[in-house]
Amino acid sequence: MLDRTATIPDRLAMRSGNGLKIGLFGANCSSARSATKVPERWQATWPECLRLAQMADETGIDFMLPIGRWKGYGGDTDFHGATFETVTWATGLLAATKRVTVFGTVHAPLFHPIIAAKEFVTADHVGEGRFGLNLVAGWNEGEFEMFGVQQRDHETRYEFAQEWLDAVKRAWVEPGDFDFAGKFFNLSGVRAFPKPYGGTRPIIMNAGSTPTGQAFALRNCDAFFTATSASRTSMDANAKKVAEIKTQARGFGREISVYTVGLVVCRPSQAEADDYYRHAIIENADWGAVDGMLALKNITPQTVAAEEYAAKRNYFAANAIGGYPFVGTPDRVADELATISKAGMAGIAVSFVNYLNEVPYFADEVLPRLVRLGVRAEH
Ligand SMILES: Cc1cc2nc3c(=O)[nH]c(=O)nc-3n(C[C@H](O)[C@H](O)[C@H](O)COP(=O)(O)O)c2cc1C
Repeated sequence: MLDRTATIPDRLAMRSGNGLKIGLFGANCSSARSATKVPERWQATWPECLRLAQMADETGIDFMLPIGRWKGYGGDTDFHGATFETVTWATGLLAATKRVTVFGTVHAPLFHPIIAAKEFVTADHVGEGRFGLNLVAGWNEGEFEMFGVQQRDHETRYEFAQEWLDAVKRAWVEPGDFDFAGKFFNLSGVRAFPKPYGGTRPIIMNAGSTPTGQAFALRNCDAFFTATSASRTSMDANAKKVAEIKTQARGFGREISVYTVGLVVCRPSQAEADDYYRHAIIENADWGAVDGMLALKNITPQTVAAEEYAAKRNYFAANAIGGYPFVGTPDRVADELATISKAGMAGIAVSFVNYLNEVPYFADEVLPRLVRLGVRAEH
């Protein structure tokens, strides 16, 4: 339990001395981070999510990061067709666990900031200081249409997110009533009690990938998630990227932790891991869903040449959806994860084709190796 004077660094430490924090990414969504048709793909039912959070708690996994998703991507499986709303999901999981940090992932334009601030405080009290916020400015047009909300242009989106977050933070700290007069919000006589748990506030992360998104994260957030890069396990490329981000953050007078994402397929032999990865992610890919995601980025057979389209499709399925694939034996997966840590990353959010089937092996075999490699503390 955090004591009443816990600080943001205490919260970022997530109750462990782990140099490399490990989180589970996307467990609130059907199929999680793998657009696959294999029958064992993740269903994301509540009993599964609950069991998984308790498993994370027991094995020393540091955090759970859900995806804010409102509409499936189609395909044979309707990838992400069934999703739990993330703040209510986090609150339920926080009530049932003791040490894991659970994030909510919130699209700023879809939630009133004062309601959101109170929801976050509620989750934070339930979890006794273990709630974290992943703030998303929005990018997926079709999702916004279903709320009747017009997506703003990219720059204005982050201007709006700034004001939204300013309002949330004021609701978290103002000792009495306050007024908020901005470009997007005019709020009078705002009153918000209680404040977040323990006299501090939830940690805040963001994963913008454009310069504007990244600058927003560096100005406002404690943690920044970098998007996928095939060179992720290359120590030099990673170390350079982390150093750049940290230097830029210091330009804003801030310290920031850098995280990344990945997909884990870990098996006793390399051949087994390779075979399963190929079977689940390539041979049984839900290509309709992959096409749907690419179309949202305006990549279609009509907009790019056939050969380029095929290459992008393959790359997207194999590398981009789940992040860098860590495929191999416990030794290899642990080694690659340790490399990320040595490059200066504070942590990684990983997904599995089926978490409940695969996390126990990962926890038994990979986590102790990371302790031996000096990047995590004994659980
Ligand atoms: C780790 C990670 C988690 C993300 N989670 C979500 C999410 O749950 N929902 C969402 O709509 N976008 C999510 N995104 C997308 C980003 O928030 C952001 O919109 C995207 O990277 C585009 O960057 P930009 O806003 O700078 O244009 C995520 C990205 C990453 C790397």
